[in-house]
Amino acid sequence: MSTPTAPANLMEAIVSLAKRRGFVFPSSEIYGGLNGFFDYGPLGAELKKNIRDCWWNDMVRRRDDVVGIESSIIMHPKVWEASGHVAGFTDPLVDCKVSKQRYRADQLFFAGVRIKNPEFGPGVLDALITKGRIRKAEGESLKDGHLPQSVVIGYVSALESERTEAELNEKAEELKKKFQVRGQLEYITTNSSIGLVRDMTTALSDEIDFIPSPATGEPGSLTAPRSFNMMFQTNVGAMTDASSVAYLRPETAQGMFVDFKSVVDTGRVKLPFGIAQIGKSFRNEITPRNFIFRSREFEQMEMEYFISEDADWAKCHEEWIAWCEAWLKSIGLPDSHLSRYAHPKEKLAFYSKGTVDIMFKYPFGVQELWGIAARGNYDLNQHATASGKPMDYFDEASKKKFVPHVIEPAVGVDRIFLAVLCAGYAEEEVKDEKGAVEKRTVLRLSPRIAPVKVAVLPLLKNKPELVAVARKLHAKLQRRYAVFYDESGAVGRRYRRQDEIGTPWCVTIDFETIEKDGTFTLRERDSMQQKRITEAELFALLDEQVY
Ligand code: GAP
Repeated sequence: MSTPTAPANLMEAIVSLAKRRGFVFPSSEIYGGLNGFFDYGPLGAELKKNIRDCWWNDMVRRRDDVVGIESSIIMHPKVWEASGHVAGFTDPLVDCKVSKQRYRADQLFFAGVRIKNPEFGPGVLDALITKGRIRKAEGESLKDGHLPQSVVIGYVSALESERTEAELNEKAEELKKKFQVRGQLEYITTNSSIGLVRDMTTALSDEIDFIPSPATGEPGSLTAPRSFNMMFQTNVGAMTDASSVAYLRPETAQGMFVDFKSVVDTGRVKLPFGIAQIGKSFRNEITPRNFIFRSREFEQMEMEYFISEDADWAKCHEEWIAWCEAWLKSIGLPDSHLSRYAHPKEKLAFYSKGTVDIMFKYPFGVQELWGIAARGNYDLNQHATASGKPMDYFDEASKKKFVPHVIEPAVGVDRIFLAVLCAGYAEEEVKDEKGAVEKRTVLRLSPRIAPVKVAVLPLLKNKPELVAVARKLHAKLQRRYAVFYDESGAVGRRYRRQDEIGTPWCVTIDFETIEKDGTFTLRERDSMQQKRITEAELFALLDEQVY
């Protein structure tokens, strides 16, 4: 077997596999799809459910200090006023007036194209000055023969990606060629400490007209950034006026804060304790992208862990970060792909004591997977003030009343889904039964989350005695696990089909099963090793690995 490798175009391979094998489809595909929305097919729905179930079991059922709730998606609009989302849940938006494309200003980068010791062809300098490509003062001094050491001949722009820097430099070369300017092009770098590349949130008003739109490649059509609220609005009831405005929740977290008192009053909980929830959230993202990484409808798994006002929040924060990392590894994400990013103090909201993101190495870059925030008691206080209902907690031990503080681990199911596909996907060369080399695509998914746990394969479909045993075993396994019965094609081909969807084990019913001791051949996905196994051993293996 060759060393498993991820293909260079890993994202393309994953999107293609997801579509081909029924993990993820574009939503409303027959109508051309809807940007930022996705459907999960039969295998995707299973994989997603397994991720949710593992989290719920580990976070809620297997802990004595966390309870679960399910709050409604549409809540009283005052919830979102109190939480700050109506006023502040915004992204900076830039429009292209020509193409009608919209960009997130902090994801649209630009740089001046600077040439050292420039020399211009006949008429070029005048044209550049007239068009404003070269500022008047700078241009005039050039005309007078006072050659400055370097001059900006225009701007280039590119969207955030792993190729931003390369793209800006390629465009700079093109611009230099287009204007027939001789001289040495200064290298454009995204290294923030050097600061040559900036994002549109920092563009000066007299620069904006010279920055090309990524859609048209031409300057003059981009607007100045403005705030865009990402909450989806709807109306509740028959009236569609301002009084009926409501929002689809942009996070599940507010449900836990708003229901805090009800849970304390009914749940027999004592500090420290957590309230957890899994559910859909909606954000009208300006630029949904990277497949299901940033979408407009997605699912969150959030937990608010309430602690005493004088608890050691930093220790608790660190414990939750470590818990989240361990959990990600328990569902198969490799340590090598995980890292931490601590938000700089100066960028935190005023009430926040600290936020650490667990980052994952996606094919398109290292990106946030799970945010763990220490939010003080800001949210409970906001709701107490806005609703007039106290949100304090009476601590029996200290006989003190206070508003608890909170540690919030918040993660997206879809981001985990994409991470396990990215980490698990590999292509390798293997030998078939006849010794010929062939390519196999394999999804190394943990048995905890694999959509199919076992495939049951009778060696031959035209031997009723093999089929009968296989059907019986399949039915027995089906009571407890997601299993798949497959009798069509050569066994090698059937193994490959299961490898591609991440099934950890295949069980083959062969002549030894019916003629000898009733054992089956167990074939392991990753090593492709085979061994004989009894039915009891098979159930014991599943019991140990699928939890
Ligand atoms: N209550 C805190 C909160 O919602 P967040 O960082 O905005 O914090 C938490 O979101 C997690 O939800 C993120 O770490 C990410 O995993 C997921 N998430 C956020 N926006 C998303 C989107 N547009 N598409 C998919 N997942 C998203």
